[in-house]
Amino acid sequence: MKISVQQGEIQSVTADTLIVNLFDEVTSPSGATGAVDQALGGAISELIASGDLTGKAGEVGVLYPRGAIAAKRVLVVGLGKRSSFNLEGVRQAAANGIKQAQKLKAKQVATIVHGAGIGGLDVTAAAQATVEGSLLATYRFAATKQEPEPPHAIDTLTIVEFDGGKVAAIETGSVQAQAIAAGVAIARDLVNMPPNVATPTKLAETAVSIAHEHNFNIIVGDRAWAAEHNMGGFLAVAKGAGEPPKFIVLEHNGDREDLDTIVLVGKGITFDTGGISIKPSERMEAMKSDMGGAAAVLGAMKVVGALDLPLRVIGIAPCTENMPDANAYRPADVITASNGVTIEIISTDAEGRMVLADGLVYATRYNPKAVIDLATLTGACVIALGQGMAAGLFSTDDGLRDQMVAAGTAVHERVWPLPLWDDYKEAIKSDVADIKNSGGRFGGVATSAIFLKQFINYPWVHLDIAGMALSEKGSTYTPRGGTGYGVRLLVEFLRNWA
Ligand code: BES
Ligand code: MN
Ligand code: ZN
Repeated sequence: MKISVQQGEIQSVTADTLIVNLFDEVTSPSGATGAVDQALGGAISELIASGDLTGKAGEVGVLYPRGAIAAKRVLVVGLGKRSSFNLEGVRQAAANGIKQAQKLKAKQVATIVHGAGIGGLDVTAAAQATVEGSLLATYRFAATKQEPEPPHAIDTLTIVEFDGGKVAAIETGSVQAQAIAAGVAIARDLVNMPPNVATPTKLAETAVSIAHEHNFNIIVGDRAWAAEHNMGGFLAVAKGAGEPPKFIVLEHNGDREDLDTIVLVGKGITFDTGGISIKPSERMEAMKSDMGGAAAVLGAMKVVGALDLPLRVIGIAPCTENMPDANAYRPADVITASNGVTIEIISTDAEGRMVLADGLVYATRYNPKAVIDLATLTGACVIALGQGMAAGLFSTDDGLRDQMVAAGTAVHERVWPLPLWDDYKEAIKSDVADIKNSGGRFGGVATSAIFLKQFINYPWVHLDIAGMALSEKGSTYTPRGGTGYGVRLLVEFLRNWA
């Protein structure tokens, strides 16, 4: 779908489908919707009066001009109550409109920016949200299956604005949205790919192409490289893997030590069988999403490069499968991580924290102002917060925590603070090593976080994104499957960094 911005009256634009909007409880539409209403001889007002159109959120009314204007159809999307309207309302309205257009097999769509008129939102932000909602909602994974006919795709989306003074701001928002949506699409693709395709090698190839595109420094460390770096945690998990493990490092402005440094670390388990502590087979296929953290980091790095953010941003993704094998690590093994901390293995299914341990230690060398890790780490987090509701957040720094919560609210990729009390350390005490890799059933989400805390020496945020990376049902602008969760959150956090 090609996106462009145009100054003019939406009713005179060349397109087969026009998208305008309506707030709840508005009886006579104004602005662009009002202009279309007039061009249609009051057809929209009439539908409002009869109660057929209400402007409620989620509603999409379809009108047929029958020659009154050039377009074949006009979609009126409901924005809901004006008092509670925000950018999430814009994304959802745009998504509902474009999905209806797609269903009607539209080819050329024109839309206004939702929320920038009487909605009173910042024009650039509203334009970004309009384009983001449209692109994210029409994302489709190119699945490997035979289909009777190719799925319908909209060719063009024209953003139309009457006020010439707003066009530049809309163009800015639109360009940013396209960069962000492309990052989300990469993350979704990687999660959607089957685990025999989205291997550590595939993740590394993706990282290489992102690096070439944006002039990043890149390291793809193999087993031998990891051994040189004493990455005992990462290598323990990789021991049973048939697929070669890859420790990926991407550097945006890597040599600019004058800039603030933020490191992103993503768990990259391309398939989590549990290893010797094998998981039940029921729903094990969902564990192809166990690289959702790494996917989010790669997607975010792509956007960081595209927007050329004035920061030094490092993306780290330890990638391997977790398999049962004659060579696999076992419960009772004692492993030494790259900072010298020894770990007694209780469960080989607590593998995420093992690879993250070395990822977090590796971050130290950059002397970062902040490190954010994202990991589909614990089922306990999903039990606590619910499926698709929010990531669990743990932080050593209240300021960072607040910045992350604010970013999550703004982009509607929510995070929710959980406690990082030292008392949780009791649960991971070991008789034979410094710590053990599982603290048992109670407080499983917090004991995994306190485990990770043994490997950091900088301001840190840990996000447990189990339950966020994969969506069984999908939602307004997120189709079923990989969600790309974390990309927009990280980009918003980085853009707001001061
Ligand atoms: N990848 C899983 C966590 C997970 C569960 C992610 C559900 C997404 C949805 C992780 O590696 C795991 O197996 N965690 C164990 C930890 C336990 C062994 C301490 C868990 O949550 O049961
Ligand atoms: Mn596991
Ligand atoms: Zn896992």
